[in-house]
Amino acid sequence: MDFVHDVIAWKRDGRELDEPRVRAFVDGVVSGAVPSYQASALLMAMVLRGLSDDETLWLARAMIDSGKLLDLSVLRRPVLDKHSSGGVGDKVTLVLAPLVAACGAVFGKMSGRGLGHTGGTLDKLESIPGFRVQLPQGDFLRQLERIGVAVVSQSERIVPADRLLYALRDVTGTVECNGLIAASIMAKKVASGTSALVLDLKVGRGAFAADLAQAKEIGRLCRAIGTAYGRPTTCLYTAMDAPLGRTVGNRLEVEEAWQVLKGEGPGDVREVTLALAAELLPLADLGLDAAEARARAEAALDDGRAAEHFERWCYVQGGRWQPGEFHRLAAHEVKAPAAGYVTAVDALAVGRAAQLAGAGRRTVDDTVDAAAGVLLERSVGDAVQSGESLAAVFSRDPARRREASTVLETAFTVGPDAPPARRIVLGREDAATAG
Ligand code: URA
Repeated sequence: MDFVHDVIAWKRDGRELDEPRVRAFVDGVVSGAVPSYQASALLMAMVLRGLSDDETLWLARAMIDSGKLLDLSVLRRPVLDKHSSGGVGDKVTLVLAPLVAACGAVFGKMSGRGLGHTGGTLDKLESIPGFRVQLPQGDFLRQLERIGVAVVSQSERIVPADRLLYALRDVTGTVECNGLIAASIMAKKVASGTSALVLDLKVGRGAFAADLAQAKEIGRLCRAIGTAYGRPTTCLYTAMDAPLGRTVGNRLEVEEAWQVLKGEGPGDVREVTLALAAELLPLADLGLDAAEARARAEAALDDGRAAEHFERWCYVQGGRWQPGEFHRLAAHEVKAPAAGYVTAVDALAVGRAAQLAGAGRRTVDDTVDAAAGVLLERSVGDAVQSGESLAAVFSRDPARRREASTVLETAFTVGPDAPPARRIVLGREDAATAG
């Protein structure tokens, strides 16, 4: 029996791995010496037995060392980044990135694509005709220097181990492990040169963390890795029981982000964006505290500067941004079965409906339809009459439209009484918070 077999058996029996074993596993996955069936077996043992804090840090370290490290120090300014653990209707990066630049700081991000029921920023940006998400490293740096904002796709050479492991986890039911999630998120952030990071950890049905306790555990592990690498990491915990905003689907979400950039749009998207800006901007070289940061960000949304920076950013990255100018697909409406109040909108069901409509991928090789998605006409707390529209699903394909609307119908709960007001920001913890 070979070494990998023994490592799998060791973990299966609930024993802690040591650093050399973790490193041998990661190196073997990258070199191809560890076949995917053995890697999957070890991942499953990790999910079932959990990872200790040390195992999580060793895993992150081995993953970071599997590729190149990007050095952003030539910019001589802190480069800020935020990362979301993934949600439904989460278009916050589209607003926050130009907003941070409009406030005088630098926002640079390597981002991912949507997988499963969660959306990805790159797919949203690519719904703008011409928008280029693949930039050579030199262009990425020059753009940050010139306009203070750039969002690009993850370079193939950064953390190759995560790309391989994440693809396996996605198809073997092994995403849901706090240590694996924390190592995967933080390895990419450390390797891509981020100076200071705010994590938006989503909580609820539409997120990887079902409750606040689990999100806090992922946050604690992420902060420990950030501290080990000298990258101060702040965690914001935000609600993902219902979708964020009223749109789910790539181009629909860009349109909604544009509304928020103009000082309009849904209050929950604005609130999460401002809460993140209040965490991020004090980490820049602007001498702002959290209250000043929030006030500056609010002003930039309301006086048009954030929208102006979004237009400039699109232009420089090749995008031809024309609000409202996209092909509207045929829609199927979901109607209220009774009069009352919307008491819940299940983010997972809405995410799945949007994915079925064509907005998301079923496999990594799938293409997405930029115009497909879901528009929520009513959200939690809204009053509705019997037979009124709750939501519309847009898809090019009538069969997919029908299938998606059947799932979408299950997302809504309508009751006789108005629900209590929802809290969107559920808590925060920074690098100094005891783990
Ligand atoms: N996001 C990541 O980057 N990795 C995970 O494992 C989960 C969410």
